[in-house]
Amino acid sequence: MSFPNHRPRRLRTTPAMRRLTAENRLAPADLILPAFIREGLTEPSPISSMPGVVQHTTDSLKRAAAEAVELGVGGIMLFGVPAVRDAQGTASLDPEGVLNKAIRDVKAEVGDDLVIMGDVCLDEFTDHGHCGVLDSEGYVDNDATLEIYGRMAVAQADAGAHVLGPSGMMDGQIAVIRQALEESGHKNTAVLAYAAKYASAFYGPFREAVDSQLKGDRRTYQMDAANRREAILEVELDLEEGADMVMVKPAMSYLDILADVAAMSPVPVSAYQISGEYAMIEAAAANGWIDRRGAITESVLGIKRAGADTVLTYWASELAGWLKES
Ligand code: PBG
Repeated sequence: MSFPNHRPRRLRTTPAMRRLTAENRLAPADLILPAFIREGLTEPSPISSMPGVVQHTTDSLKRAAAEAVELGVGGIMLFGVPAVRDAQGTASLDPEGVLNKAIRDVKAEVGDDLVIMGDVCLDEFTDHGHCGVLDSEGYVDNDATLEIYGRMAVAQADAGAHVLGPSGMMDGQIAVIRQALEESGHKNTAVLAYAAKYASAFYGPFREAVDSQLKGDRRTYQMDAANRREAILEVELDLEEGADMVMVKPAMSYLDILADVAAMSPVPVSAYQISGEYAMIEAAAANGWIDRRGAITESVLGIKRAGADTVLTYWASELAGWLKES
């Protein structure tokens, strides 16, 4: 026979056929909304490098959380921007500090209808902007930082967080947090380990979002973009230490890492589509260079296809709305 066999094109002939044969599907419950709250704001404050994303007030954060529930979004990851910073990041431990209070406020608003997650990291709270405290040489002191992370974790669990997200890439952070949670009676508070987190230029807009004080970079604790198998070591260590879920971050430039981790992980895998990934698509769409909705949907679906069970994305609620209507 000389005519071509029209497999696989016949499965692409109609929208219904494509829908039926899709290998991957996005659902609102897969999505986690990262959200920022800033102490002392009276109005939500736009983040110029992340059009459409704001630093929230307590009220606007509660509304965003309620809207996420309405749309069926899976979770919310909270980041706090304190009014006062110091070398030790002390405000992170204050039960009335911006992040701990936000966790409590969101919990009061949505209860258990949305998985409430807190960022366990010092970079928003230190006056030097590093994810940990510094030793006399200015090097981020791993073990002194762990001691604070343990107390931060308990403060967030006390405030009602369902999941803690340690994002500081200190060695041993999962073990220390797990132990602190057990000792304080928080046996059901889960840990989503930022296991393979790379030092990335794409974090730029986030630094504006949290008014980061950082000068320099985080290359002595975050992973090097050149490394692939090291990500497996990072995930294995976090699993041994008790991680309930693991994350790859950023997402789009690290889809190979995500696929590797998805292939070996016995626990759910998240990927974080970070601020710079958001900003690039928004900027191109604003210029009319790409179709905004198409690019957003395709980018998140690509992350899912590479192996993510859940995706942290600043488009979580908007995308969930589109998924509900389609
Ligand atoms: C650290 C943290 C960062 C992000 C999430 N948690 C910044 C960093 O490591 O420099 C970045 C998220 C994003 O860019 O969207 N607490």
